[in-house]
Amino acid sequence: MTADALTARRRALLGGAYRLFYEEPVHLVAGNGVWLTDAAGRRYLDAYNNVASVGHCHPHVVEALSRQAATLNTHTRYLHEAVLEYAEALLAYFPPGIGNVMFTCTGSEANDLALRAAKVMTGGTGIIITTNAYHGVTELTACLSPSLGSGAPKGRDIYHVDAPDPLRDGDMDGSQFARRVADAIARMRADGVTLCALLVDTLFSSDGIQPQPLGALRLAADEIHAAGGLFIADEVQAGLGRCGSHMWGFLRQGARADLVTMGKPLGDGHPIGAVAARPEIFDAFGERSRYFNTFGGNPVSARVGMAVLDVIRQERLMDNAAIVGQAMTDAVSALRRDFPALVDVRSTGLYMGAELCDSETKLPDPARASAVVNLMRQRGVLISASGPGGNVLKIRPPLVFGLEHVGILVDCLAGALRDTV
Ligand SMILES: Cc1ncc(COP(=O)(O)O)c(C=O)c1O
Repeated sequence: MTADALTARRRALLGGAYRLFYEEPVHLVAGNGVWLTDAAGRRYLDAYNNVASVGHCHPHVVEALSRQAATLNTHTRYLHEAVLEYAEALLAYFPPGIGNVMFTCTGSEANDLALRAAKVMTGGTGIIITTNAYHGVTELTACLSPSLGSGAPKGRDIYHVDAPDPLRDGDMDGSQFARRVADAIARMRADGVTLCALLVDTLFSSDGIQPQPLGALRLAADEIHAAGGLFIADEVQAGLGRCGSHMWGFLRQGARADLVTMGKPLGDGHPIGAVAARPEIFDAFGERSRYFNTFGGNPVSARVGMAVLDVIRQERLMDNAAIVGQAMTDAVSALRRDFPALVDVRSTGLYMGAELCDSETKLPDPARASAVVNLMRQRGVLISASGPGGNVLKIRPPLVFGLEHVGILVDCLAGALRDTV
């Protein structure tokens, strides 16, 4: 079946809400490490997928999944060691105060659950998010996802703050972001709303990928704690070693999180989500509610999650993210000499935002970003674009990306910048 026929069939069967990547959609049939193969047998370098965190179809993960699937799969209302072993292994990556973890299947569910627990713990309803945040698909998390535009439902007691953006706000130490959070707390008080939580993606992915300034989240979390609220670190994108220096984005920022939500990379493609928290928060929640999530924490998922952690440790993927990420940053930054439209290259580990603006007006250039993304796709390298202006190239490969792949990516990016205006 041709790509056009498949696209039409999708539209007919799946309805009108789905979107595809790229002007010419990619029809993938296989993956291996950082490589993807389409139906015509063509290979693409994957410089975008953080879900296949330890590489597509990693054999250790596939083996763990198959072995447990062939033995037993059930849910958390029966005793089973797998979920406990996984919980113990995952919690070992958190500071001592974070002592419990609850399992979900998606990042949206994790955020939803964290917010429910935070509301019980604080008795508050007021939630602070960033102006172009994305936190999920449930009714509540979609309300907290202004990046959905007119598709974001209207929620109550939601307060927006602009994400850090040193290029524009000159915030070099995070104090401006913290001040914006303090202002939101004051607005909330003036409205008679009780503070519940600050919820942020710790790399501000949909706000244009803003890894700097370091300290912004520490100062903002301090403001929240001083006002009696909780800090929920959304690690669905930033977490599990991607930052290179730390396992989690909130630790990289030196912030004290009360709840940490996780998703995408935990299962290398298998749906696993989780919320880690201070035990007293889940105790307060548990006094009111029982928790049962049919698929969350099932033995197959737990074995997969454990296998992903094994690979990250055994293959030293956090170090790889730091080393390869630095090489990628140096090489992409060097392109700025030839391409003044590339106004900013910001990154940590294997997560990069490269911002394209009109060289004369200095305004965001989403058309150029889209042209670059589509041309690179034609030439066999997959990336995307994001941010409030749609002009930030989003480069976020699996953690097994190597130095040899950086060369391919950067050559392709340079060619696409040369051949677009
Ligand atoms: C920061 C962030 N939080 C939450 C979610 C929702 O995760 P899921 O799609 O697994 O529900 C996403 C998904 O893109 C995300 O990027």
